[in-house]
Amino acid sequence: MKFSDDVLKQLEQLEKKYKAIGQDLPSYLDGLLYSNPLDYWDYIQVETLLSLQRPRTDFPDELIFIIYHQITELYFKLTLHELWQIGNNGKIISEAGQDLGWNEKISKEFLTERLRRINKYFEALTKSFDVMTMGMEKEQFLKFRMALLPASGFQAASYRKIELQCTDLINLTDKDKREQLINAPIEEQIKYIYWKHGATELETGEKTLTLKRFEQKYMDEFVEIAKEYADKNVWKKYKSLPEADQKDEALLKQMRFLDANININWPLVHYKTAVRYLAKDSSDVAATGGTNWQKYLPPRFQKRIFFPELWTEKEKDEWGKTWVEEAMQKIQ
Ligand code: HEM
Repeated sequence: MKFSDDVLKQLEQLEKKYKAIGQDLPSYLDGLLYSNPLDYWDYIQVETLLSLQRPRTDFPDELIFIIYHQITELYFKLTLHELWQIGNNGKIISEAGQDLGWNEKISKEFLTERLRRINKYFEALTKSFDVMTMGMEKEQFLKFRMALLPASGFQAASYRKIELQCTDLINLTDKDKREQLINAPIEEQIKYIYWKHGATELETGEKTLTLKRFEQKYMDEFVEIAKEYADKNVWKKYKSLPEADQKDEALLKQMRFLDANININWPLVHYKTAVRYLAKDSSDVAATGGTNWQKYLPPRFQKRIFFPELWTEKEKDEWGKTWVEEAMQKIQ
């Protein structure tokens, strides 16, 4: 039997691939002889995925609560996947650690397209949040929520990682501390990260167990990420482009949209949901563990802005008020 030129070329490429990692091609060809065909259920890990929902109570609506959090975590994972690629200029590294020589440098086209992807994820999350807002019986929620304390979405580490990979840490610190922190090391800046004001006791202002346990588990990792991304977060990658590229309209649109999506649109639908379930009377408030969420969650109070230089003073003053929502809907 004669092999076509295409097959011979593929064999040469395979030989090169395995040689680079000190492996022998014929052994791997042997492996191909014995491997089974791949099925959907194995590739997508369907059975494992569908076994990951473990309600803690008998209320049927708790399953909705768990699954929607898991869906959100998967979108957060996709977002982090794109942010990693932006940070690494679109490089592709093989599992064996080889740089496959894909991209060398960040380009405005690459950045625009990857931000567009992330914006689509957050748009999907914002639009689907009704699954939470309208999708559970409030009476059931208020009961099963008590069996989950002190867990809170506040402890979603992926959300914090997204922030650290989008902007300079200084933009995530308390506004009144920024001037004095601007040249401080990461370890010092992170002590003033804005979210330390969340999940505190409404009565005393003390840290809740939710916050303490979260810091204990993740703070070291957050410091590492903040250091790693100090020079390769989205803002830094944007600023590394030639000035003319930074003015590109399509890119600017995706940058601003990202800021609005992560810091206004999603937080607003999330906040509205918290209001629906938690804001009626004092016994409802107990379902959060009695935290300060009403003062902490609204985007107009947090004023978290990843790219302050891309907004006018007026836009920043009115952050989280309705004009931004309307403006962003027009951009889509
Ligand atoms: C019925 C649905 C929900 C309610 C009532 C709710 C309520 C709250 C409350 C009250 C807080 C403030 C922290 C605290 O006091 O514990 C919070 C924070 C948070 N929740 Fe939710 N939540 C809901 C769904 C979700 C979902 C589906 C996610 C997705 C992962 C999520 C992620 C977060 C995040 C990331 C924070 C921190 C926000 C920030 O620091 O600005 N929540 N949530």
